[in-house]
Amino acid sequence: MGSDLLVVGSGLFGLTIAERAAASGRKVTVIDRRSHIGGNAYSENEPTTGIEVHRYGAHLFHTSNQKVWEYVNRFTSFTSYVHRVYTNHNGVVFPLPINLGTINQFFEAAYSPDEARALVHELAGEFEADDAANLEEKGIALIGRPLYEAFIRDYTAKQWQTDPKVLPAEVISRLPVRYNYDNRYFNDTWEGLPTDGYTAWLERMADHANIDVKLNTDFFDESQPLNRQATVGQVPVVYTGPVDRYFDYAEGALSWRTLDFEQEVLSVGDFQGTSVMNYADADVPYTRIHEFKHFHPERADRYPSDKTVIMREYSRFATRDDEPYYPVNTPEDRAGLLAYRELAKGETGVLFGGRLGTYQYLDMHMAIGSALSMWNNQLA
Ligand code: FDA
Repeated sequence: MGSDLLVVGSGLFGLTIAERAAASGRKVTVIDRRSHIGGNAYSENEPTTGIEVHRYGAHLFHTSNQKVWEYVNRFTSFTSYVHRVYTNHNGVVFPLPINLGTINQFFEAAYSPDEARALVHELAGEFEADDAANLEEKGIALIGRPLYEAFIRDYTAKQWQTDPKVLPAEVISRLPVRYNYDNRYFNDTWEGLPTDGYTAWLERMADHANIDVKLNTDFFDESQPLNRQATVGQVPVVYTGPVDRYFDYAEGALSWRTLDFEQEVLSVGDFQGTSVMNYADADVPYTRIHEFKHFHPERADRYPSDKTVIMREYSRFATRDDEPYYPVNTPEDRAGLLAYRELAKGETGVLFGGRLGTYQYLDMHMAIGSALSMWNNQLA
């Protein structure tokens, strides 16, 4: 194949490996079964409005890792966007994460931080977090029944298609409550959106004479030359697809949740006044609505003032044909993952990385950070 390295998957993990390898003088081939690069971070402009839409769900970049921040800034600058999320409960909009503003609005009160803390502590006394038998008891033990029932119960049930009373308590470890009015969603040192959009960033990472990208190319399709049989053992491989698929599901299929997106162009300048609105209640079938123009207020002069693009998001368990988005992580999944890790150790010449290759939810900065570590420790 004339390459020193084959990277399977052109998401941020694969692109980081490819970019580092190319910069060090190696010839790299990157294959992806999709028709575009960038994995789930890919975005494109909605054709009738020119509004940038994140095709696989809203992507907000944030990190406190200085090495990652410096690395990504080689390929793109970032806007000063600061992410904030609101939620609609019983037809009233509240700020998230739960903070003093949420609490005072919900209880129609003017509690001080200490008064609110004492109230939540008292309400949470109904259960002990360590003894919680299920997610519902854990949620109540963490923030008390009223806030749990308003903001967590039905939203969680929609995400998991399961009553929280029968979900394991470990699904949530903590429910952050802020006893001030800070409703910044992320706590990281740096956050923002790529100034020219995600795809320009991702394309710049791949733009090197030593990198050859082949799209619409599935590693398991034996009719194409760069398939598993033909390459493993012949050339070093970094594989970022699903680990269970690589081993033909020998230890069982790992379970995932997926999302369905319903996109709509509306003839209105501003639909909801903010980028993300959650819907906390059971009577609304979707979990949230994204309105993409609000991610880029600095593009107001380029975006139409009489049109907007919204995307409703629905959550459900994934079948093998769906896009795997969030690991479910049942005890069976964890046992399966350990078995796959053993198999992966024995697979000479193949390194497994990224969110699918390691069966982990990774934010973008984590995927990039972990690819930089793999490059430095195992490949460079
Ligand atoms: P990624 O999934 O991006 O790439 C894997 C690539 O491998 C895909 O392009 C796939 O087509 C390819 N592939 C798989 N099997 C193959 C095969 N057999 N042959 C060839 N190619 C194959 N992060 C964040 O920091 N902020 C955020 O706001 C969000 N938001 C968000 C929303 C949603 C809905 C999801 C699911 C994820 C996020 N993320 C996020 C996480 C972010 O998407 C994630 O960190 C990166 O996608 C990780 O990059 P990877 O390269 O690991 O996987």
